[in-house]
Amino acid sequence: MASKKEVEKIKKAISKDDEVEKEPQLTDLPGIGPAVAAKLEAAGIYDMMSLAVMSPAVLGDAAGVGAAVARKAIQAARNMLDLGFTDGVEYAKKRANVSYITTGSKNFDELLGGKGVESRSITEAFGAYGSGKTQVGSTLAVNVQLPVDKGGANGKCVFIDTEGTFRPGRIKQIAEGIGANPEKVLKNIFVARAFNSDHQVLLLERVGEMIKEGEPIKLLIIDSLTAHFRAEYAGRGMLADRQQKLNRYMHDMMKLAETHNIAVYVTNQVMANPAQMFGDPTTAIGGHIVGHASTYRIYLRRGKKGSRVAKLIDSPNLPDNETIFFITNAGVVDE
Ligand code: GTP
Ligand code: MG
Repeated sequence: MASKKEVEKIKKAISKDDEVEKEPQLTDLPGIGPAVAAKLEAAGIYDMMSLAVMSPAVLGDAAGVGAAVARKAIQAARNMLDLGFTDGVEYAKKRANVSYITTGSKNFDELLGGKGVESRSITEAFGAYGSGKTQVGSTLAVNVQLPVDKGGANGKCVFIDTEGTFRPGRIKQIAEGIGANPEKVLKNIFVARAFNSDHQVLLLERVGEMIKEGEPIKLLIIDSLTAHFRAEYAGRGMLADRQQKLNRYMHDMMKLAETHNIAVYVTNQVMANPAQMFGDPTTAIGGHIVGHASTYRIYLRRGKKGSRVAKLIDSPNLPDNETIFFITNAGVVDE
């Protein structure tokens, strides 16, 4: 890893004129808000490079954040330097390209930072049966097709269905609800049933090929991400294998999202966690592997009076991190 001085030298060498590009800020990193950035600065960490070379434990202590957030921030800083190192202008352009897809609920969009699910990111929704994971996915599959000024990405959707829960009729109903042509909307969703985890891996490769062939795919949905892995790698003896395979899969997914500037929405089941004594005793499948690789992690549950509650996990820079939405015939809405 280059020292700070060396980085400055290289940066100077590659800048064609005296104009200085705006450097990426610590607050550009996931999980680093102004409050955490201030703590880091107090600890003498001012720039990306200092952060990129830290260990998660040290960063966690310095910034007062959890290990998961620390690891994510370090990884992001490293990725960012990789890009900024050779060409900072190119990096800025890439950021400008990020697109968003509205969930249909302003509240829910706010929870995700303002505009809904983000391209170049993985958004994971986990929760119990009937908590709304598939319904959120179905609404996104419709909304991605909206023009940009209506909260869409003007693109098509790939829906990898591992549980056979994709319902064309439901898609049409949601499309009608927002005044879109149901048949057209359905035609812009490529659906594949994944029969096992190997098939699921293969289908991911196929998505990359489709995009290269010119399909304007802007959203990839995997519903459910973990069900096959969980069923095939049952029992303690297989846990390590399962996590390794899941890990690789998450990385492939992130690479796909970054290479093609697409948003990824995945669903995940929960299991009872008897170790937790207070609150909701449920834990997401795939544990840390899935959690670390997901950029946004949302816990869904049923709320009062038919509402749903969405909670952003692992984001200490967002104080108000829980919100309410509803599932209606027209999909996800505020009320
Ligand atoms: P699992 O896949 O079983 O783990 O659950 P999930 O989290 O995917 O749940 P899903 O998204 O399928 O949510 C199911 C719930 O959505 C139902 O219990 C209904 O409350 C609601 N829902 C599903 N379809 C409709 C519909 O057409 N109209 C309305 N108003 N609500 C619906
Ligand atoms: Mg479902």
